[in-house]
Amino acid sequence: MSTIALDNFPKSFLWGASTSAYQVEGAWNEDGKGPSVIDMAPIVEGTTDFKVTSDHYHRYKEDIKLFAELGLKAYRFSIAWTRIFPDGDGEINMKGIAFYNDLINEIIANDIIPIVTMYHFDLPYALAIKGGWSNRTTVDAFANYSKILFEYFGDRVTYWLTINEQNMMILHGDAIGTAANNDNENPLQDLYQQNHHMLLAQAKAMVLCHEMLPTAKIGPAPNISAIYPASSRPEDILAASNCASIRNWLYLDMAVHGRYNNIAWSYLKARNALPIIAEGDMVLMAKAKPDFIAFNYYNTATVAEATSDDFANSTGDQQIVIGEKGLFKGTSNPNLVVNEFGWEIDPVGFRNTFREIYERYTLPLIVTENGLGAFDKIEADGSINDDYRINYLTQHIEQIKYAIEDGVEVFGYCPWSAIDLVSTHQGCVKRYGFIHVDRDEFDLKTLKRSKKKSFYWYQALIKSNN
Ligand code: BG6
Repeated sequence: MSTIALDNFPKSFLWGASTSAYQVEGAWNEDGKGPSVIDMAPIVEGTTDFKVTSDHYHRYKEDIKLFAELGLKAYRFSIAWTRIFPDGDGEINMKGIAFYNDLINEIIANDIIPIVTMYHFDLPYALAIKGGWSNRTTVDAFANYSKILFEYFGDRVTYWLTINEQNMMILHGDAIGTAANNDNENPLQDLYQQNHHMLLAQAKAMVLCHEMLPTAKIGPAPNISAIYPASSRPEDILAASNCASIRNWLYLDMAVHGRYNNIAWSYLKARNALPIIAEGDMVLMAKAKPDFIAFNYYNTATVAEATSDDFANSTGDQQIVIGEKGLFKGTSNPNLVVNEFGWEIDPVGFRNTFREIYERYTLPLIVTENGLGAFDKIEADGSINDDYRINYLTQHIEQIKYAIEDGVEVFGYCPWSAIDLVSTHQGCVKRYGFIHVDRDEFDLKTLKRSKKKSFYWYQALIKSNN
């Protein structure tokens, strides 16, 4: 099995793994939980729904025990907003509080550090039908939700992530069921109004967190990837810069510095899509300071100049670049191989991404997602020999090592995913976990857990850093 000498990783490094509530918990309408946009979204053809998923809600004790055996130092999971507030705001559902209290206690009892994402794509449906993020009242609903999370769980949770992949929700909302309100005369303006509201909600949560929990740490969790120009043509380099600003820096410039990225701003201005900024918004944005940056990384993007109408390049999948006429268009990178789902694999791009983020913001970094979706095969003896996953993770961890050598402060790595779960786009046959869950696309089977080869590999790797 591939091994890496982890000599330059700090001993306190948070070797972790990730999941999200709607992809792993199931129990979508149990114990007072309200529906989210995910529960109400049409199911992607040929895939299953998110109603049972891996049944973690009922099996979390068994799962956490396996995570402890895996040797995880940290477990990144998300709280379903609709378990705490079935309608997004208003009355608290105490059964939801009880579930996460039990889950957090179980994690800590197993010597694992909880890392909590407050919102991972699953906006309460009750808020969505009132306009969702287009409606400014959602900002206060989120702030109130975050206050309740800090109040009930802040005594035990130190690491908080505000919003998972806000940039992907804005750029690929259709794929996630959170698209802009297209009744609006100017859908792009509406989209970036939603974005502004999410940025405000995040700022409020960061300020509240620091006021209520002085020793807690909080940060954003976008999907960030280095953007390459398709060639050395100056026009392609400009295109890459445009794409990086609109895809990456818009989100982090606001989270860290409390200001709009100038290139993203001029893009919106040229399209008459500037968000309405209320009095006090920018003061609040500037006041909110993250303690670290969390980011998800699966691959890089390569773009070229886009002058004509052939600028779009999208399958609706959030890892594919959607072009912008006049600014950039996605192209494939001939230097990279792709996985079974057409996603490019770029371990060196991981190092590039670390360096770019750290050089821009000089904040400690944690990776909250990185991994390989694949069709795992169960052998006759029940084993799953996912060497492809081990190779992918090995190559990426090697690049973390180089990034640390480059002087980047990296304090944790939480690959996707701790256990098999339902993928956002391709159902449950696309697997990411260290732990296999016995179910098929439409047949729930036994839901029994078993350890893949990558489980033993990751266990040994973590041990070697002790
Ligand atoms: C990330 C999301 O963008 O990509 C996860 O935060 C998602 O929720 C992951 O599952 C992988 O995407 P997919 O479509 O393969 O599940």
